Amino acid sequence: MEEFYEKLNQEIISKKSIIGVIGLGYVGLPIVESFVKSGFQTIGFDIDDEKIKKLIQNESYITDFTDKDIEKINEFNRFYPTNKFDKISQCDVLIICVPTPLKEDKLTPDLTFLNNSLKSIGENIRRGTLVVLESTTYPFTTSEVVVPYLEKLGLKVGDDVFVAFSPERINPGVEKFKFSSTPKIVGGKTERCKQIATALYGCVIDKVVPVSKPEVAEMAKLLENTYRYINIALVNEIETFCSEMDIDIYEVIEAASTKPFGFEKFYPGPGVGGHCIPIDPFYYKWYANEKNFETLLIDAAFEINANRPKNVFNKAMMRMKGVKNSIITVLGVAYKKNINDLRESSAIELIEMLINNGYEVRFSDAFCNKILIKADGKSCEMLSVDFNEELLEKSGLIIIHTDHDYFNYELLNKYKEKIIDTRYALSKFENEDRLVYKDIVCKDKDVYFERQI
Ligand SMILES: NC(=O)c1ccc[n+]([C@@H]2O[C@H](COP(=O)([O-])OP(=O)(O)OC[C@H]3O[C@@H](n4cnc5c(N)ncnc54)[C@H](O)[C@@H]3O)[C@@H](O)[C@H]2O)c1
Repeated sequence: MEEFYEKLNQEIISKKSIIGVIGLGYVGLPIVESFVKSGFQTIGFDIDDEKIKKLIQNESYITDFTDKDIEKINEFNRFYPTNKFDKISQCDVLIICVPTPLKEDKLTPDLTFLNNSLKSIGENIRRGTLVVLESTTYPFTTSEVVVPYLEKLGLKVGDDVFVAFSPERINPGVEKFKFSSTPKIVGGKTERCKQIATALYGCVIDKVVPVSKPEVAEMAKLLENTYRYINIALVNEIETFCSEMDIDIYEVIEAASTKPFGFEKFYPGPGVGGHCIPIDPFYYKWYANEKNFETLLIDAAFEINANRPKNVFNKAMMRMKGVKNSIITVLGVAYKKNINDLRESSAIELIEMLINNGYEVRFSDAFCNKILIKADGKSCEMLSVDFNEELLEKSGLIIIHTDHDYFNYELLNKYKEKIIDTRYALSKFENEDRLVYKDIVCKDKDVYFERQI
């Protein structure tokens, strides 16, 4: 109805609307921070009581936020973290950012978290509310799951309530691109839905990109992450060739990247981790295959990426032949550097393979002090050990799995003979100056690159 649309639009523009953020994880917290800072009353919902308790006590649980950051959010007196979902009825806007993992088969989307949050919404939503889905998901989820759910409650989308999909693009651990400075794609179910969601994000994001329908926004996110997954597979495949042929892949990548167009840098690694890159392509694949479309590139990329931990393990086995000291130290277990996220990290698979083959394994990661592994058929906990020279000294083999910045690479370089460097961290360290290509302007003003030696 026109009156709901006008009222909500006015409330958003005047920052009087109450924002509800459902799911307070890596995605939800930055959203909360942005809305609170820009003047909105914000209620944060999570099923995890520990997280709610921590937020109330100014404690952070993700690496991108310090305790001080949480304190600053709380100091605005506009943030209310809660596990009481009846407070949804107080919200004018609901932003859903709950996990969207794969089922155990690693092939089928698991929408349990989304369905549970829809249930909480259904029990409490008021007419005149905007619901935005930010969780990454397969195309048509908004139209085929969220919209029918609300319509079954007797709410007409576009009149009584408004629905949009807006993919989240944050990159944890990377300072350069923040929630507010990364352009935000918005696909509304109807024209009014699009306009109202665009107005909402316009309050907190520098650049909003409205698209014609939710499916475009859903597919855009899947294209972005499938592009990354496939390019990582490409560089992983080329790395295998280069390392056998004594060609430094790191030097190859840096040289190729001097081309000012048509090339983006991707680096090889021990496996693809996190809640996005190894998952999202399979959300797309599942839906495409259901509709009888082939996904040949994703299938090939999977073959390459899924084998990476095994490749590192095989290298380790070769290197341990004849080594008396059997301690293997894995440096870094998070799926990428400078964060504490272990989801889908290849370190777990690698450590399990090493232990199950009889090696004594230690790991060191100041971001993740505990991991859960399955060894000899049993689940057990492993604790991180300190990173110091004594550890390197007594290890028969050191595997750099995650190249956290805090590791002392100068020290590690002393032990390079017994290191498997899955991230080319020592190459980067050794070549820091040599491989920096700088613009040099010649007398005739042509620009060329010069390698610094
Ligand atoms: N992490 C990233 O870098 C990133 C980037 C872009 C998009 N995404 C997508 O965003 C979504 C969320 O990812 P995340 O990394 O923030 O996950 P997360 O696990 O860090 O956070 C999700 C939170 O939702 C909570 N939750 C689960 N079910 C709930 C429910 N029914 N009601 C309320 N809270 C509930 C969990 O307790 C958790 O705190 C996923 O779809 C992911 O693919 C993640």
